[in-house]
Amino acid sequence: MLLAFSTILASCDRKPNGGNSSNPEEELSEEYYTGGKTGTVFNRASNAFEQVAPAVTDYMAFKRGEKLFEQSFVTGDGPAGGLGPVYIRTSCETCHPGYGRSRRVDKFDSNEYGNGYLVMIHNPDGSICQSFTTMLQTRAVEPYLPPVDESGIRINWIEHTDEYGNKYADGETYSLIYPEVTIDRSAILLDVPSDYQVSIEGTIGIFGTGLLDAIPEDSIIERHLHEQSRGYCQGVSTLPYALDENGEAKVGRYTYGCTRSTLQNGPGSNALWNITNVTRPDRNYLYATTAWIEKMAEMGLDTLGFAGGFEKTEMTMEEFDDFMIWHRGLAVPAARDLDNPIVQQGKELFYSIGCTACHKPSWTTGYDKHMPGFSYQKIWPYTDLLRHDLGMKNPGLRQKCRTTPLWGKGLMYQCTGANDMLHDMRARTFEEAILWHGGEAQQCKESFRNLSKSERDALVKFLEAI
Ligand code: HEC
Ligand code: HEC
Repeated sequence: MLLAFSTILASCDRKPNGGNSSNPEEELSEEYYTGGKTGTVFNRASNAFEQVAPAVTDYMAFKRGEKLFEQSFVTGDGPAGGLGPVYIRTSCETCHPGYGRSRRVDKFDSNEYGNGYLVMIHNPDGSICQSFTTMLQTRAVEPYLPPVDESGIRINWIEHTDEYGNKYADGETYSLIYPEVTIDRSAILLDVPSDYQVSIEGTIGIFGTGLLDAIPEDSIIERHLHEQSRGYCQGVSTLPYALDENGEAKVGRYTYGCTRSTLQNGPGSNALWNITNVTRPDRNYLYATTAWIEKMAEMGLDTLGFAGGFEKTEMTMEEFDDFMIWHRGLAVPAARDLDNPIVQQGKELFYSIGCTACHKPSWTTGYDKHMPGFSYQKIWPYTDLLRHDLGMKNPGLRQKCRTTPLWGKGLMYQCTGANDMLHDMRARTFEEAILWHGGEAQQCKESFRNLSKSERDALVKFLEAI
């Protein structure tokens, strides 16, 4: 019996398309096409998150855009120039290794690949302290100084005991940890209120965000009403809105806080400017606060144009357009092994214990003017794109957090070398991620806790397959 089963597994591994149908002509079920027919690639290797979607028509532009994501920016003129004078990282990939997510670390180090936390210095009410940019800058080009010397950032991981004494119903135990972050006052260059607090946030994957952009806004509004009618999203009576590239308010769908509404004015297009401080025609000023600019002027340094706008910028709009073709055109890796009986069992549990209330399995895209090939596709991101309060201990800035897409998660370790989860990367395994689901997901978590060991394992197998 065991032998027969492992043969089935081995044979499906050999099929390049990820399915295990005995008839090669037979079509795979639609769930395999995570990013729809035009946004999915059948690749399960370590570069699975870096692939071009079939919908992309200008491949050369895609490759030019890819370079902007992968390269390290430097100071001065020339290709890859324009870094600083104050900045967060020299490249996107430092925080998004293998195009995936950063990992949980004990020590913040902006030079280290994959050490990708964003840091926020905020007031107890969650508003950012005004001397600092929302995304804290810890690097500067000499003789400029950064607002904070990053060696003063301390991340402590604290053991947490939950309401069940960290035990499943069957008696098996687990461990949970959460971060407490501080910055030594002596490491802070600018004025800060005495009761300042510090939070961290890990990254989200980049792939598939072009497809999420193609979901009609009305579908998200409809989903929000539907969830409210079922008792979810109660504390969040209104949807979050954020300005698009034309200055119009649209429903936020990107980042943990849903603070960005379109990809064109999204986290990536913004990061290209504010992570590196490389200016371009639509952002011809520095990402810096008045407090920092005044401090630099006090030190006798040149600050001409920092706030008011530069005549000459460091990146052209043509380069930015290429970057957006790459960004939008990244494919999602196809699901794997869905026909495996254990994965099937896990899928049934995922649906029956209520995970799909928030991890909405599929959406249908509308007409996409940016990438017409992405129009009218059924995609499988496993998120409702809405914010929920999971009642987490020490949530940092994210009391309400957008449901993270689960597509591609099973390949995360292989593509990035880590698979830490949740907004601050506190979860080291799928089980821990689920066990941090309280608040709106309390009942769902209890159902998970009450499953048998083999059922829990099956559920995780399903998460690994999608
Ligand atoms: C300092 C580390 C860091 C760097 C460098 C960085 N990011 Fe991010 N990125 C993050 C974090 C943290 C998040 C989650 C932020 C949030 O939710 O507010 C994120 C989120 C995103 C998302 C949102 C995904 C989603 O589903 O909402 C995209 C897209 C993205 N980044 C693209 C980029 C691009 C493109 C670059 C380079 C131009 C870049 N990032 C550079 C830290 C970084
Ligand atoms: C009430 C809504 C809700 C329900 C129900 C829910 N989730 Fe979540 N889930 C979320 C939110 C919100 C996050 C992001 C939380 C964060 O990052 O702090 C999340 C994150 C996750 C993550 C981590 C993803 C990552 O990459 O960081 C996993 C895994 C996950 N959920 C699995 C499940 C499973 C399995 C179930 C069913 C047992 C479930 N969730 C039920 C809302 C929900």
